[in-house]
Amino acid sequence: MYLKNIDLRHFRNYEKLTLAFSPRINVLLGRNAQGKTNLLEAIYFLAMTKSHRTSNDHELLQFKAHHGQVKGEVQREQGPVKLQLDLSAQGKKALINHIEQARLSQYVGQMNVILFAPEDLDLVKGAPSVRRRFIDMEFGQIDPQYLYALTKYHAVLKQRNQYLKLLAHKEAHDRLYLDVLSEQLAEWGSQVIVMRQRFITELEHYAQVVHEQISQHNEKLTFDYKCSVKDFSDMSVTELKEKMVAEYHDLQTNELKRGVTLLGPHRDDLRFLVNGQSVHTYGSQGQQRTTALAVKLAEIDVMKDQTGEYPLLLLDDVLSELDGQRQTHLLKAIQDRVQTFLTTPDMSSIAKKLIKQPRVLRIEDGQVTVEEEGQKVELTAAQQARVARKMQRDAELNAFLGLDAQGKTQPTLPTQVFYPTKKKH
Ligand SMILES: Nc1ncnc2c1ncn2[C@@H]1O[C@H](COP(=O)(O)OP(=O)(O)OP(=O)(O)O)[C@@H](O)[C@H]1O
Ligand SMILES: [Mg+2]
Repeated sequence: MYLKNIDLRHFRNYEKLTLAFSPRINVLLGRNAQGKTNLLEAIYFLAMTKSHRTSNDHELLQFKAHHGQVKGEVQREQGPVKLQLDLSAQGKKALINHIEQARLSQYVGQMNVILFAPEDLDLVKGAPSVRRRFIDMEFGQIDPQYLYALTKYHAVLKQRNQYLKLLAHKEAHDRLYLDVLSEQLAEWGSQVIVMRQRFITELEHYAQVVHEQISQHNEKLTFDYKCSVKDFSDMSVTELKEKMVAEYHDLQTNELKRGVTLLGPHRDDLRFLVNGQSVHTYGSQGQQRTTALAVKLAEIDVMKDQTGEYPLLLLDDVLSELDGQRQTHLLKAIQDRVQTFLTTPDMSSIAKKLIKQPRVLRIEDGQVTVEEEGQKVELTAAQQARVARKMQRDAELNAFLGLDAQGKTQPTLPTQVFYPTKKKH
């Protein structure tokens, strides 16, 4: 799949932006603080309904704006799909082909993205929560059942923790209600764990292949899923649920003392081992990077396996973080099969030989100009008319969004814009 175009309104430092993308490599070129990551964030947001760098949607709205919008058309094998997210102080609305979705979990999965930023090196070094978030974000995209079970699990977990605190402070006394919550938590938790295990096994398989190649067959990567419920592998969901219920029972005194839930997927971890040794503890910086890269590249294959299509790849400042050999591996892995968006402050830091005919999007202070193979394209009369019609529709939308409240002057029609030269796909 690939994203054909995007349309932003009041998103971060973009007041209004309409862009067409290359189905292959798009380079987001610009100095610091111009809006490169903001544009990647918009693509990620369009796919996930969430930003990768904030949980506060309000930060995504342009300063002082009350409404914002991200729209785009994703080309999938079975045809194009129009995605739209509307943001306002009241919350967000998600639309697929103009139809509003009752639940965000119904919307997620239409477009699959993998984002790789320098912080992803924290995947190996960071706290267990970083790895849990990674598993949840990636697996949630490809399996709506997982996302659903996880959302339910977290809702019950929150309730159970609140109730444990009430019991601990003697403000509540009903232990039977705690048992009901434990049962529900085990119900959703057992499903999450079994699905996580399946995903991790598949990811491990692909990561091993990539890792072997990068390390030139000298090292073997293995995963160790550290589930807070011990010895659960080979158990069915029902067996695991029963085991969890029994363990909650045994843990009750301790949980009441601490006022928190001590068992369940919210306490899981995933450890990486190279030749049997923990990369977290003993790995060199290079080994940690290779591991993170192998895991990220493996995700591309897992998504292809699960969904039948390659996801989009968003690379924020990672090429400059990787040495020549790892850069080559990364670029070879994506070549011609994965639509890629990569940010860079200058073209010289990327291996030009490996990146064929990128579309270069030059970003300056929330404005983007497109250069395809360095060419600027003059518009024909028909194209100008099309742009005029689009601007008319935009003006109507602006009016709808309340942007013309002060009767600001309408934008004038450009006589020249940068326009894609590629054929329609
Ligand atoms: N909600 C917002 N409204 C308007 N501007 C914003 C908003 N959030 C962030 N910005 C601005 O966006 C700019 C940062 O953009 P971005 O993070 O995309 O930079 P970048 O091009 O990726 O830079 P770098 O190369 O340093 O990573 C900052 O100038 C910041 O003030
Ligand atoms: Mg950035």
